[in-house]
Amino acid sequence: MILASSIRRLRLTDFRNFATLDLDLDGRPVCLAGPNGSGKTNILEAISLLAPGRGLRGAETTEPLRRSGDEMAASWAVYAEAVTAEADDISFASGLLEGGRRQTRMNGKPASRADLARHLPMIALLPEHDRLFAGPRADRLRFFDRLVAANDPAHGETLNAYEKLRSRRQKLLESGRTDPAWLDAIETDMAQHGVGLASGRLHALARLQAAIDAAADDVFPKADLALDGLTEAALAAGAGIQEAEDQLMTALAEGRDRDGAAGRTLTRGPHRSDLTARHRGKEQEAGLCSTGEQKALILRLVLAQADALSQRSGAMPLLLLDEACAHLDEKRREGLADAICGLGAQAWLTGVEAGLFAAFGNRGQVLAVENGSVQV
Ligand SMILES: Nc1ncnc2c1ncn2[C@@H]1O[C@H](COP(=O)(O)OP(=O)(O)O)[C@@H](O)[C@H]1O
Ligand SMILES: [Mg+2]
Repeated sequence: MILASSIRRLRLTDFRNFATLDLDLDGRPVCLAGPNGSGKTNILEAISLLAPGRGLRGAETTEPLRRSGDEMAASWAVYAEAVTAEADDISFASGLLEGGRRQTRMNGKPASRADLARHLPMIALLPEHDRLFAGPRADRLRFFDRLVAANDPAHGETLNAYEKLRSRRQKLLESGRTDPAWLDAIETDMAQHGVGLASGRLHALARLQAAIDAAADDVFPKADLALDGLTEAALAAGAGIQEAEDQLMTALAEGRDRDGAAGRTLTRGPHRSDLTARHRGKEQEAGLCSTGEQKALILRLVLAQADALSQRSGAMPLLLLDEACAHLDEKRREGLADAICGLGAQAWLTGVEAGLFAAFGNRGQVLAVENGSVQV
């Protein structure tokens, strides 16, 4: 049985343009309607800061501190009471304390954000993702790694470990202190984490593709996905873990001089992989599709990921869908509402007017956001 995670109470303190906010909610999708600049995305960002990482704006920890005129708050806090797959009443808190210390708590006790992610999984889709398939490779890979990490928080930890090693190796190479034994040790660890990353991505991709293929409606088009990367290709072709690690280690060792001279890691490790997508119906690269078509493709992908994730873990993630209805015609807005309700997910949607959420009817709860406050 799949149980949906939902936030039942959300409280913000001195978070961006909210001095205080205290919302009582039920499990239905939450539709935030309000003019530009009213604070809709800020609310989604606040929720995203309960998960690992820098939240959906990639902000520095002090950035959300509420500013008004010349004054700046000394701390910010996000507090949520939720129903999750494991508990009927569990609280999560995340914030920056006075003095600049970041803190995360679960049921009032200190907890890591990876712990929070295990209890309150979430998937975010932002307006800039509309052009994800036509945009820079690194953005696409980051988006995909986030999806994988929503399914498996250990993936995020492996990615951090790999990136730390990569930057340490890069510094050594650029400083000219190329002690081979030291580099060997770093590259051995990089290869181990790198193969873990590639393998996690491949498994997640297979589950995601299966969920896309299984979708019964034709409101959102289907994409054929693939991963383009040295290690992903080796594993997909049947290489064992050791073989793939050796291949990556060799590539790194051979790439030392070039990476050092270039000032970046040109070696084709998993940091340089890419997610490719083809619009199945049109038999076209996703990057060449129109903006509207790309938006529809990515919505299908996100809905399928929520489905895949919940099938695997038994917990339906929160969906943070910023301006998801913006470029959708009425039929697709209805399709989106039906898909979200079909999943049973508590989606958090934003839009400039309540009419965009008409298709939810009483299946959703519409809140009016205005200038740092919310009317229920
Ligand atoms: N640290 C901050 N303190 C006070 N206001 C902020 C802060 N950061 C952003 N804002 C303001 O929050 C407002 C709303 O932002 P946002 O949530 O993106 O609006 P929207 O409803 O269009 O999604 C903007 O006017 C912005 O200036
Ligand atoms: Mg916004």
